[in-house]
This record gives sequence, C-alpha cells and structure tokens, in this order.
Amino acid sequence: MRQPTRADKFSFGLWTVGWRGVDPFGAATRPALEPAEAVHRLAELGAYGITFHDDDLFPIDATETQRRAHIDRFRAALTETGLVVPMVTTNLFSHPVFKEGGLTANDRGIRRFALHKVLRNIELAAELGARTFVMWGGREGSEYDSAKDVRAALDRYRESLDLLTRFVLDRGYDIRFALEPKPNEPRGDILLPTVGHALAFIATLEHEELVGVNPEVGHEQMAGLNFTHGIAQALWHGKLFHIDLNGQRGIKYDQDLVFAHGDLMNAFSLVDLLEHGGPNDSPAYDGPRHFDFKPSRTENIDGVWESAAANMRNYLLLADRARAFRADPAVREALDTAGVGELRTPTLRPGESYDELLGDQAAAHFDIEKAGDRGHGLVRLNQLALEHLIGAR
Ligand code: GCO
Ligand code: MN
Ligand code: MN
Repeated sequence: MRQPTRADKFSFGLWTVGWRGVDPFGAATRPALEPAEAVHRLAELGAYGITFHDDDLFPIDATETQRRAHIDRFRAALTETGLVVPMVTTNLFSHPVFKEGGLTANDRGIRRFALHKVLRNIELAAELGARTFVMWGGREGSEYDSAKDVRAALDRYRESLDLLTRFVLDRGYDIRFALEPKPNEPRGDILLPTVGHALAFIATLEHEELVGVNPEVGHEQMAGLNFTHGIAQALWHGKLFHIDLNGQRGIKYDQDLVFAHGDLMNAFSLVDLLEHGGPNDSPAYDGPRHFDFKPSRTENIDGVWESAAANMRNYLLLADRARAFRADPAVREALDTAGVGELRTPTLRPGESYDELLGDQAAAHFDIEKAGDRGHGLVRLNQLALEHLIGAR
C-alpha cells in the first residue's frame, strides 16, 4: 500500500483531530490540541489541507489583536509545512447565543450577529486562499413544529445566501459556497435535512451558480439514505463543491466514525464513483477528499493520529479495490449482462416525437413476457464487487 501524498488532496477539519471527546454523557478524555501542532502532524501524515471554523482558531470574544495573533501562529505553521486551507466554515452553533438558530433564529438581532460573523470569516477565508466556504446550519431548525415558521426561515436563509454571494462577487473573492445537509442533531429537526432538500433550495438563489453542496457520509445515512446516490445526484446537478467523508452505522446518532468504519459497501461504491465515475473511467470529482470525523473518545492522542491516518489509508485501499473491480473482465461481462452501460443510450431516437413513438410497432409489441422472464444478473455483479472489496479476487 502506498502512503498518502499531497496529490491525493486529503484534508481534515481542525475540529476533527482537535475533538476532545466531550459528549452529552461525559467530559473530555483528551487534552486540547494546538492548531499549529495539528498542522504539523497532518502534514507529516501526508495530508495536503486543513480546514477550520473561526471558533476553532480563536475564541468567539477575542479582541482584534488576539484574533490576529492566533491567525499569525496558524499561518506560520502553514508556511513551515506547505499545508493549504482549501475550505473555511463558520461556527454558528456552539455559543449559547445560537441555541435557537443563527441565520434563521427567530430573534433578528441574533440573525444580524450571525450574518456579521459569517462575513468576517469570509474575509479570513479569502485571506488564506480558501476556495470553498462551507455552511452547516446545525442550529437552524427546531424541536417543536409550532416553534418555527419554516417558510419564513427559508426566506431568511435565502436572504443570507443572497447577501453572501453578492459579497464575494463585489469583493472579487474566488470563493464558492457549499451547504452541508443534516437531518437532525443538535436540533430535533434541521432545515435542509438532505442533499435533495439543499439542491432544491439552491435553485431559488440569486447567484445559484456560486452555491453547491458539501454532503457528509453519515448525515445521509442517519436518514437511511444511500450516500452514493446522493453524491451521484449532486454530481449530476454540477453541485458537488466539497465532500465530508466519514463512517456511520445505520440510523442513529451522528457517529462521525473513521471513513469506511461504517457502511463499507457504500464506502466502496462511493470511492468507485468519485474515482471512476467521470468520462472514460476518469475521476468524477477533483476537489479535496475532506475527512470530517471524530476520533473515538476511547483513544488517546496517539489514537487520534492513528485514526487520521486510517481515514486516508482506507480511502486509498478502496481506490485500489475499485481500480481492480473496474479492470476485471468478469466484472465487465457482468456489467454488460446487467445492461448498466445501455442506460446511457437515450430512450428516444434523435429527434423522435411522441407521435413516432406511438406509431412504433416494436415498442407497441415489445415482448413483455420474455423481458419479464429474463434475469438481470445484478446479484452476480454485487458479489463480484464484494469479492473485490474483501480482497478475494
Ligand atoms: C457534523 C457536522 C459538522 C460540520 C462542520 C462544518 O458532524 O454534524 O459535520 O462537523 O461539518 O461543523 O461546519
Ligand atoms: Mn457528522
Ligand atoms: Mn461535516
């Protein structure tokens, strides 16, 4: 197995390796991690990028001088290591001020503070050369249906996005926005709960071309959805601006496990799609492979770095398996039998009208008995995928 290199574009959130293991039932199990230390360790492990929330780098109530000092220390570590900052995001969820929401809080003063916080952080993102600005609205939602006017909340969300896109255009920043869906947690129900909800919302924006999605493996899987399908649809819309890789085992709390430590088959099909889903077997996505995981709170600091390395290693292992799967003649034959490639042929002949289709005798007299009797060989195809995945072929 080869080691990760910068060319693999692996990146990590500062809050991931920096997570101290606080959960609703227990205190921190690990000491705080200096951002500069995280930069150095991730660079040594082969990552190319690091991302952060404003609050990961400096306290929410930092003075301008303190804020600058934190940014300067972080920048020095970036310069020393060559690590880049491909993405920045804003924390609109930790401080109690955001307990009822940020950009869609009922309280207008809170909304204005939240939007101000995002604008300041976009200035920082531009300063650090980030090209993607993620927006995860963890507190945008409610526990009780009567407590939130969802249509008004969506108006306010759109009002915010329209201001932010105008801001980057006016300032000439080379930054696009990526909305991160999540169905629940910390709120009982979060707005824009799935990739599909987010895509529909984006289509209503003033500068929708600047706004895409940042889907997270576990967030779709928490809702019982197929993450690979969600990513395929985001790609189809040209909206996969960023991705959060991690692991999740079924419909339960957000586990944020190491990538591939959850639904392994789905992780395999995801890597196969990202690496081979473009034209002629090319990658379908060339952005950062960003890990948004939480090193289990059972681990000490050595386990944190072990976990970080495992994310990258699992991605590369799955990429190897996917390559072997695509190259296997038995797989090609099974794909042919299943007619997977035939779906690319349009259903109508070029220029064919509905009248012509209505008059088409072959369609009218299609042998439905024969077609209904035929086996599609999908189980064999999946078995081949599984055997490649577990290294049996
Ligand atoms: C989660 C979320 C967060 C966001 C991050 C970006 O696991 O609930 O993924 O980690 O991605 O905060 O704002
Ligand atoms: Mn998550
Ligand atoms: Mn995430």
